[in-house]
Amino acid sequence: MESVIGLVNRIQRACTVLGDYGADDSLPTLWNSLPTIVVVGGQSSGKSSVLESIVGRDFLPRGSGIVTRRPLVLQLYKTDPGQEEYAQFLHLGKRRFTDFSMVRAEIQEETDRVTGRTKQISTLPINLSIYSPNVVNLTLIDLPGLTKVAVVGQPESIVQEIENIVRSYVEKPNCIILAITPANQDVATSDAIKLAREVDPTGERTFGVLTKLDLMDRGTHALDVLEGRSYRLQRPWVGIVNRSQADINRNVDMMAARRREREFFATSPDYGHLASRMGSEYLAKLLSKHLESVIKARVPSIMSMINKSIDELEAELDHLGRPVAIDAGAQLYSILELCRAFDQIFKEHLDGGRPGGDR
Ligand code: GDP
Ligand code: NA
Ligand code: MG
Repeated sequence: MESVIGLVNRIQRACTVLGDYGADDSLPTLWNSLPTIVVVGGQSSGKSSVLESIVGRDFLPRGSGIVTRRPLVLQLYKTDPGQEEYAQFLHLGKRRFTDFSMVRAEIQEETDRVTGRTKQISTLPINLSIYSPNVVNLTLIDLPGLTKVAVVGQPESIVQEIENIVRSYVEKPNCIILAITPANQDVATSDAIKLAREVDPTGERTFGVLTKLDLMDRGTHALDVLEGRSYRLQRPWVGIVNRSQADINRNVDMMAARRREREFFATSPDYGHLASRMGSEYLAKLLSKHLESVIKARVPSIMSMINKSIDELEAELDHLGRPVAIDAGAQLYSILELCRAFDQIFKEHLDGGRPGGDR
């Protein structure tokens, strides 16, 4: 049976094709009823590095300045052991990428295609799926980094535009916030925590991620943050050690980096006692488990959105006239099929247990 996260992923992709990606629409669309995990933080806080560690591959554009200029919807699908890893872009159909440096190039080109080379930003997401035995089922959205100043060649308004994009995602009650904060800066001034606190004051849907633990001054540590004394969230803080710029320049691969991260925590006099709850692999598992439980708890509201969508889709299909030949019709039809599959799977879930406590 397909995982619930896998199904939600497919519905999200279908929604994107139809132009429903929740970003600039206050109406209750199908997309908005689905839970998503969004990565938020200041520029160079380590957002892209955290995403790459979760995936275990090198594939994101990097550099100084505003590199991420369109939302990237990253859908991870766990495949059977021994299967070849590959990536697919929604805008390129069935074309498979097995060379992940080509994935990076395509993200860059596709960003420029929409924003021009003028360093503008766009709310239109890029949708990337990665199939691999080494991932957990998860949907993550990478957003432009929060910034306080525009760089040369960018309009001053970009600072506000970025904040607006980020806000449009994180203010949705179904959004799970991954607030990325570098450990070598004051957590109290963290852009991510500031925004998270504003949109999620109880800290119920915010996961704190503390990066750059290896860059803290000698003799200092981040136990107050990691153990929830500095800034309390209802979800745990997870400490991370990503590759440094020097590691990247030396081509230290992701698997070696994960190993080194594990060693960092296991052998640390400060963090040794927390080692089993630290690091990128732990974070990925924690998020996947959380996402699954959120989806299950939201079953009734997702179901009512889906039933509504089925009615609307059927009306729209009638309007287009069957048999449907044109592209939009085919997309509507595939969403309809997905909604029915979803309906079916959730009925099975509900038969097996009590309906989740939904709001
Ligand atoms: P983003 O702008 O938030 O996406 O940040 P990046 O992931 O591109 O990281 C910015 C820079 O910080 C890169 O040079 C990374 O190598 C470096 N970096 C990120 N996380 C860590 C970390 O945990 N430790 C160290 N030493 N460097 C890191
Ligand atoms: Na960056
Ligand atoms: Mg980045």
